[in-house]
Amino acid sequence: MYSRIVGTGSYLPEKVLTNFDLEKMMDTSDEWIRERTGIERRHIAAEGQTTVDLAEPAARRALEAAGVHPSEVDFIAFGTTTPDLVFPNCGVLLQQRLGARGGPAFSVETACSGFLYALSIADKFVRAGEAKCALVVGAETLSRITDWKDRSTAVLFADGAGAVVLKPSEQPGILSTHLHADGTYKDLLYCRGGVSTGFPVEEPRMAIAMVGNEVFKLAVSWLGKAVDEALAANGIDKSELDWLVPHQANIRIIQATARRLDLPMDRVICTVAEHGNTSAASVPLALDVGVRDGRLKPGQLLLLEAFGGGFTWGSALVRL
Ligand code: UT7
Repeated sequence: MYSRIVGTGSYLPEKVLTNFDLEKMMDTSDEWIRERTGIERRHIAAEGQTTVDLAEPAARRALEAAGVHPSEVDFIAFGTTTPDLVFPNCGVLLQQRLGARGGPAFSVETACSGFLYALSIADKFVRAGEAKCALVVGAETLSRITDWKDRSTAVLFADGAGAVVLKPSEQPGILSTHLHADGTYKDLLYCRGGVSTGFPVEEPRMAIAMVGNEVFKLAVSWLGKAVDEALAANGIDKSELDWLVPHQANIRIIQATARRLDLPMDRVICTVAEHGNTSAASVPLALDVGVRDGRLKPGQLLLLEAFGGGFTWGSALVRL
């Protein structure tokens, strides 16, 4: 028994913030942001719009694409680091919105790898026969934990949501997932402030802190190892891959991973220019964009990867 992706969906908040808008807010330039990151614009949640507000339409679109009624969902794994509440978790809040009751629903707090961790867990429940219709979500309102005075992070992060529906299948769908973490690097990328540590008195009371150039070097190196690991574990040569669907942190990191795989950039789904870095939402958002514009087709072999805060990273090899 395998699990297979039978529907994808995504949602972006209406408000668009361009590099030119940022030029008016801080000492930065469109040229610097585009050259160093590939980002041109990003979406930002409206005041009062929460992570679950973004996740709900993404989930409904994925369910509609799968031809599944929301009440059939019996498992929700929700990757996010920007939850609506301390509890109930975003999975439970989303379950209530969808009118699906009784199955397990939880959130996974592994920063940019949140979706891949959630996918890996859901895959195991489906394969074990314990979930028949699993919803896997990655959704974030990173604008809420962005220090808008810190140009080194404010130009990068953004809001959005993506989702997939997983069902049991006799044909291979999720071929493998590999997850990793290494907390020794916590100080290079973390969020200041927390429930048990307390919040600084001064604003912003929660904010992403990153040593960007150190994170960059490690991301390139470990994502390279992660894609090698996924191919080796499946006995697959890189020439057999149809698409790379990477975490959208920086176009230069994506290019480095594509080079490692000998994949031309027209076989890589890139949304970083339009979406910025939406953390746990970035991989399912890119996946849905590729599916809906017809580039990603049933039967194709995709490699998904992500790398994020603290650090966590991983991959999924997927037959669509
Ligand atoms: O998703 C989780 C994982 N996160 C990542 O993978 C992010 C990884 N890191 C990166 O993407 C890149 O390191 C950044 C885009 C964050 C930064 O690019 P960089 O090429 O590594 O630049 P840098 O941090 O080495 O800074 C170079 C210069 C500095 O000025 P000086 O010291 O050379 O005068 C910075 O102060 O660029 C300056 N700078 C900026 N200038 C204009 C930093 N941010 C900005 C900015 N606008 N927004």
